[in-house]
Amino acid sequence: MATEVFAPAKINLTLHVTAQRPDGYHMLDSLVVFADVGDRLWFDPAPQMAISVTGPFADGVPADARNLVWQAAQAAGWKGHIALEKNLPHGAGIGGGSADAAAVLRHLGCDDLDVAEALGADVPMCQSAVAKRVQGIGEIMTPLPDTPALDMVLVNPGAHMPTPSVFAALVQKFNDPMAGCGPWPDRAALLEWLRAQRNDLTAPALSLAPQVRRALEALADAQVARMSGSGATCYGVYPDAAQAQEAAARVRADQPGWWVMPTRSIGADQVIRATT
Ligand code: C5P
Repeated sequence: MATEVFAPAKINLTLHVTAQRPDGYHMLDSLVVFADVGDRLWFDPAPQMAISVTGPFADGVPADARNLVWQAAQAAGWKGHIALEKNLPHGAGIGGGSADAAAVLRHLGCDDLDVAEALGADVPMCQSAVAKRVQGIGEIMTPLPDTPALDMVLVNPGAHMPTPSVFAALVQKFNDPMAGCGPWPDRAALLEWLRAQRNDLTAPALSLAPQVRRALEALADAQVARMSGSGATCYGVYPDAAQAQEAAARVRADQPGWWVMPTRSIGADQVIRATT
């Protein structure tokens, strides 16, 4: 019997770029939460490594050693068949391969930060679904387990955004860090704080993919709307699940070609369910 593992989407509610290291990597200050939508993986031990990829975003995902899932299994010293169901768009700023690789390491009991980092700067932050402040290039993490859950809509206008291209298009690399980062006593306090933060990769993403502007416009009735990661997925926060569903239905009707997904961020009480 194959074991099923959930790989939740990662959402950067904020992303400040504060510096660039001599090796070219950028220093970040970001509040990251995880969604109740994600990819799914099934593990079946076997003498040889093999991957199969299905799901709405399987197209273009390599089913071999180029896949981070394969590399993560190898790094953890495991062999077998991994069935990967790609429900999330990739090159989309919401985790993609990093979320999948982190799910593999988590499932195989590999909590070595160096192994995770070697797979990608975003892999360590995806190793638990707990909300966290992320600094450095992604390796400095402060868990914020009491972060209030948010009802959101994720909107991807269909633009594939290679992370290196977005960072390369960033002009202003030395920006303010976030003004503190929690804890927030309630949802209203979190929203008020969020409104004063930014995603510094929005301008470079817009220069590469003007559709990001349309995604943000589609979320104009949200309490807060921003791009996640290096884009192009944007999130909008709504007062409750019903209003998020309504907003998602409206955006879907207007833009049938877009990926539009209502979601709730994973709260402290749901972490165990969502990560096992
Ligand atoms: O670590 P990973 O392979 O996922 O990063 C992909 C690329 O994204 C890096 O080569 C770099 O160009 C860019 N990047 C960055 N700063 C970060 C994370 C990624 O410049 N903190």
